[in-house]
Amino acid sequence: MTKKDSRMWGGRFNEPTDAFVEAFTASVEFDQRLALVDIQGSLAHAKMLHKIGVLDDAEHESITRGMAQISEEVSNGRFDWSVSLEDVHMNIEARLTELIGEAGKKLHTGRSRNDQVATDIRLYLRAEIGACLTQIRTFQQGLLDLAEREAETIMPGFTHLQVAQPITFGHHMLAWFEMLERDHGRLKDCQQRMNSMPLGAAALAGTSYALDRDYTAELLGFDAPARNSLDAVSDRDFAIEFCATAAICMTHLSRMAEELVLWSTAQFNFIQLPDRYCTGSSIMPQKKNPDVPELVRGKSGRVFGHLMSLLTLMKSQPLAYNKDNQEDKEPLFDVLDTLRGCLRAFADMVPKLSVNREVMYASAKQGYATATDLADYLVNKGLAFRDAHEVVGSVVAYAIDKGKDLSDCKLQELQAFERRIEADVFDVLSLEGSVNARNVIGGTAPKQVKIQIAACRKLITD
Ligand code: ARG
Repeated sequence: MTKKDSRMWGGRFNEPTDAFVEAFTASVEFDQRLALVDIQGSLAHAKMLHKIGVLDDAEHESITRGMAQISEEVSNGRFDWSVSLEDVHMNIEARLTELIGEAGKKLHTGRSRNDQVATDIRLYLRAEIGACLTQIRTFQQGLLDLAEREAETIMPGFTHLQVAQPITFGHHMLAWFEMLERDHGRLKDCQQRMNSMPLGAAALAGTSYALDRDYTAELLGFDAPARNSLDAVSDRDFAIEFCATAAICMTHLSRMAEELVLWSTAQFNFIQLPDRYCTGSSIMPQKKNPDVPELVRGKSGRVFGHLMSLLTLMKSQPLAYNKDNQEDKEPLFDVLDTLRGCLRAFADMVPKLSVNREVMYASAKQGYATATDLADYLVNKGLAFRDAHEVVGSVVAYAIDKGKDLSDCKLQELQAFERRIEADVFDVLSLEGSVNARNVIGGTAPKQVKIQIAACRKLITD
């Protein structure tokens, strides 16, 4: 009997697929990105099939040889991808059979594209997460170097974007470090949880061949074969979890971006971004625009959007595999590209920003940032905190009226509000006195910041 349809699955079909449908259902344009992990999975599967006697020595050897050539073709961009072969899996299998003949047709024994693709994405994502983890570490390293350089640099700390208390710039950088540390932990968690192997689940129910799944899992570096075949082919939680983790990380990067944009305005003038990370305006010659932080801030949106796409893609899907899942790849890949690009940009740029120490210092002197210190001083002199708060409120109102800072007030002026104020008050009213006083674990005192830097350095090398 001659085949009516030449496709790999064409046996039961009476007419060829509509040309539009062929293009509509194909994924090869985007899933070819999985080619090398697809080959890696196939090589492990073939080795296992050889071990259990499904493939003989010669067949196994020719599959290995054929795949080596295909890897090379893919890596050199010489592989001829065909939309009519639908996806990366069938393109590679067809090429293998073209190269080595009959043995190529045996590779798909005990396997389905359903467990194959689920394995591929895990292999791919596992490695990409590894690269993200390294990038986060590099960025954190840079932040620690910057924090060390600026451990004594005083700036205004804000709440409600109003000057609150003086802090050190190093302390601020350590806050960014902590955000990234949690992102790192979440990514590692996600990488760990996804490390179970779908291969052997076949289409959905497992397979009647006596596959050695433990062996394949070991070859591919998975912790174990997936315990349930239905779940193994249908689960995309790991992709969603990664995107959720990436979304949180992008939130952090967008917060850093926002501060960088703000700080580099003429009004703040706290920092200068390296010129090579900025662009000019085609009409306004004076401008130096912080494009990179702005883009990082903006790109967070697409990552949140992709997370929503994947959640919606999975919502209400019945078990087991559904073609809907083919739609997981473009969002996932874009999240990866976006996150990796943003991490790269910031890891490179942030440690190189230059800090305008005098401007930050002068800014911290305005806005009565040491008012809390005056209240704490009064508490030490025996006032209840609420009463001290009240007294300092009046002092601030007075100083605003006189147009001067608290530290510019004369002792007699201060004593008019509270007779227990003495000359030593000026130690706490100074910015240095204020930050040095906050020498509690996690506090902003330079001494404390240096202790934290050392602890953080240890944390990221362990
Ligand atoms: N290209 C498909 C995907 O990305 C591979 C699995 C297809 N399986 C199937 N039975 N049509 O999900």
